[in-house]
Amino acid sequence: MTTLHPEIAKRRTFAIVSHPDAGKTTMTEKFLWYGKVIREAGHVRAKSNRSYTVSDWMKIEQQRGISVSSSVLNFPFEGCQFNLVDTPGHQDFCEDTYRALTAVDAALVLIDSVNGVERQTIKLMDVCRMRKTPIITFINKMDLDGKDVVDLLDEIENILGIHTCPFTLPIGYGKLFKGVYSIADHTLHVFNKEEGKQEVIQLSGPDDPRLVELCGEVYVEEFRHRYDLVTGAMDPFDRERYLSGEQCPVFFGSATNNFGVRQLLNAFATLAPPPMVRETSTRPVDPGEPKFSAFVFKIQANMDPKHRDRTAFLRICSGSFQRGGKVLHCRTGREIRLSAPTAFMAKDKEVIDCAWAGDIVGINDPGFFNIGDTLTDGESLHFTGVPDFAPEFFARVILMNPLKSKQMNKGLDQLSEEGATQLYSPCKSAVSIVGVVGELQFDVLKFRLDAEYGADVALEKIAAFGARWVVGPAPEVAAFLREHEHDCMHDKHGLLVCLFPNEYRLNLAVKNYPELKFQKTSEK
Ligand code: G4P
Repeated sequence: MTTLHPEIAKRRTFAIVSHPDAGKTTMTEKFLWYGKVIREAGHVRAKSNRSYTVSDWMKIEQQRGISVSSSVLNFPFEGCQFNLVDTPGHQDFCEDTYRALTAVDAALVLIDSVNGVERQTIKLMDVCRMRKTPIITFINKMDLDGKDVVDLLDEIENILGIHTCPFTLPIGYGKLFKGVYSIADHTLHVFNKEEGKQEVIQLSGPDDPRLVELCGEVYVEEFRHRYDLVTGAMDPFDRERYLSGEQCPVFFGSATNNFGVRQLLNAFATLAPPPMVRETSTRPVDPGEPKFSAFVFKIQANMDPKHRDRTAFLRICSGSFQRGGKVLHCRTGREIRLSAPTAFMAKDKEVIDCAWAGDIVGINDPGFFNIGDTLTDGESLHFTGVPDFAPEFFARVILMNPLKSKQMNKGLDQLSEEGATQLYSPCKSAVSIVGVVGELQFDVLKFRLDAEYGADVALEKIAAFGARWVVGPAPEVAAFLREHEHDCMHDKHGLLVCLFPNEYRLNLAVKNYPELKFQKTSEK
């Protein structure tokens, strides 16, 4: 990798991966408070990830001005510029989350000390592992009676499949939580709920007698035992292993009490990587290259219901761009001007003049961006690794008022371009089919088609095993299509997809068409 421009070297672009309720909102607020972006934690963000039911989702929609700005938050800290990419917590929106993870260079895994490793975290960690994303883990809610520390570390190792390297260890827990001991510099960070400030005491080591005076004999005994266990049994920290996603530093604390958060941010500033090399279909792109390149990882329509707008979110991969600069839209070969790129800061978004590799900016999308599109300074490139996932639930879209077909088609097109639902044209029918990864997305689709486009639809669910992209030599694809015409459809890019009614039919197709691939994801 080339030497990075100082502006790029200080970028840290990351996401928080957690199960709902682990404390992501609280942690984000503390980050923004440290970044001096907000004066007081506690009133900034809508709980965008609390979308358990559609009615919750709708309420959140009404506050879109807030929830949307939480898509990306940037804040400065200790000489670094942090970009925090929000990830929806509900599993039915996991596609959005997967894509957000393609835009980051590192992730914070937040674990609730009471519940340990939970389902949504496991799923999201799979994506991190696939992409070898460097992970830092924070075990939150140490002020509650949680699981044993060694058990928690075991869960991370065994369930999440990553080696742990505790940077701190707690002394006591729950009501008797005394603080954390920092292994590298032998400091005790005293937990004081009432005073809310963090006292740091330098010790000579875990056997320092002052530890007993400060924390009490019982807790220190227990701590020393863990300390020996952890330092004796676990591998020392190895930055290369961290960067390749094999080993994760672990911190303990309490987000609501703002305890351990500064330490965590410091760790991100020093350990997390600046923008890294990214793959394209032709060559790797180094973030230090002077020429600009970026890809679209998210599209969001109607962020402001008063103005029918669409925003495409770009992750800049190399160089920088200036407001008003012209860039090449590689898929169409068209030159476009980025007239009002926006950055997002807590509640507001603001037009920016310049952005660097690592940054995430929103640009106004007149309707021609797709997720996965690459923009460059002139070179024809295509960033890889922004996948479409095969949906698991399917429905025919039945329009209730035939006069609204234009509105419905527009809505279906736009909402599928956002990537939350996938839209298919069946080969043998004029009725569109939509596919989603989580069923809740159906309700959201129906609600948004009505609220934003004025099209009232019914969704008639189709019992199907799953969709597969059919890829292979043209004559075999044509033969397959002839035989399976009634199950075949085209996706928004015109790619052939087969909706298999059951597993048996899929296995039969695999057997009868050995030259064809039946793919679960499609990379454009
Ligand atoms: P999420 O975004 O991951 O869903 O979690 P969020 O921050 O909303 O936190 C979920 C709940 O856990 C909140 O309580 C929050 O106050 C609490 N919480 C977060 N961090 C800690 C911690 O370190 N210790 C303790 N004891 N609780 C913590 P709530 O009752 O659901 O909401 P609220 O009334 O506090 O806003």
